Amino acid sequence: MADFKIAPSILAADFAKLGQEVDDVIASGADIVHFDVMDNHYVPNLTIGPLVCEALRKHGVTAEIDVHLMVKPVDRIIPDFIAAGASYVTFHPEASEHVDRTLQMIREAGCKSGLVFNPATPLDILKHVMDKVDVILLMSVNPGFGGQSFIPETLNKCREARKMIDESGFDIRLEIDGGVKVDNIREVAEAGADMFVAGSAIFGARNDKDANGYNTVVQKMRDELAKAKV
Ligand code: DX5
Ligand code: ZN
Repeated sequence: MADFKIAPSILAADFAKLGQEVDDVIASGADIVHFDVMDNHYVPNLTIGPLVCEALRKHGVTAEIDVHLMVKPVDRIIPDFIAAGASYVTFHPEASEHVDRTLQMIREAGCKSGLVFNPATPLDILKHVMDKVDVILLMSVNPGFGGQSFIPETLNKCREARKMIDESGFDIRLEIDGGVKVDNIREVAEAGADMFVAGSAIFGARNDKDANGYNTVVQKMRDELAKAKV
């Protein structure tokens, strides 16, 4: 089976007990903490910054932290997230004046770098920077909010990105973000993704009596992924 990674988005966590939420979701078998940064400028919502990333590290979180920047501009804030313990830093190409420079800045600081593509943004810009990305993140909703529905056209874009990655020969993850649930994760994997962000689908299980914390929903996602024909 492919090396699939499940990345719960803490946007849907209970922020009043964030450290415990992250501990619980990692204990349930999830792999990576997806950390959504919104600035009320690039997207119409406002969330969390480097201080919260640092607080999770100080709390003892050792899992990789996948910082998804939905901010504009990006360059000023990137070093702060790297100092705060980010593992991945991804940004939207529309939010940087110099995409190649920003990617280099992330890599040179020792982090994994990536570009994020909104539903209507074509993949063209990747062509000349395939050697500078560790992850390609495809938005399957418009950025700004959790709990939206998966946009099916993303599956076509996913197949296109998978082809580009395979033809490039580089070791690049293909991540999907938005509306991923137990009932569509297999289809997304079959379209070529290997890293799956899920916010409401995972943290929304918190009040489900049969959920056994987050174990059941994460296990159901793994079961679906095990069935994927890739
Ligand atoms: C949206 C964020 C997502 C979001 C996903 O702008 O980038 O990471 O939290 O949430 P769900 O899984 O609820 O669509
Ligand atoms: Zn995200």
